[in-house]
Amino acid sequence: MAERLLIVHGPNLNLLGTREPEIYGSATLEDINELCRRTAASYGLEADFVQSNHEGELIDAIQAAAGTAAGIVINPAAYTHTSAAIHDALKAVGLPVVEVHLSNVHAREPFRRHSYVSPAANAVIAGAGPAGYQYAVDHLAALLSL
Ligand code: DQA
Repeated sequence: MAERLLIVHGPNLNLLGTREPEIYGSATLEDINELCRRTAASYGLEADFVQSNHEGELIDAIQAAAGTAAGIVINPAAYTHTSAAIHDALKAVGLPVVEVHLSNVHAREPFRRHSYVSPAANAVIAGAGPAGYQYAVDHLAALLSL
């Protein structure tokens, strides 16, 4: 059976394509998921996806990845800057994690410079747009020696 990656999208990312396109671009969440799917498939991996505007649902999905997924790509969106609970969930499952941001969070408002999630991530990619998800899957595949 193919190994699986869990791709986690936080709040408001369901609006990609129409949400502040000057910052987040024109790709939709489905476009990004398709890019993840294709990149994962090139390594013989399958991808599962979750998007939620509710912190607890994201935590439930991360917990459920223990034993089912080989790694996690997560864009926690605004929860990046607030959520010790997502940090704790990622630490608890102990899987390799790549944190992705479409925008360069370091070049924006000061509150976006701090991430609760980064200390629980193996790598952080910010500012590469949708390609950042592709790089994240590439990196997980490298960590998994694929
Ligand atoms: C984001 C950056 C966050 O600061 C913001 O709250 C988002 C998206 C990004 O992908 O650039 O919703 O994670």
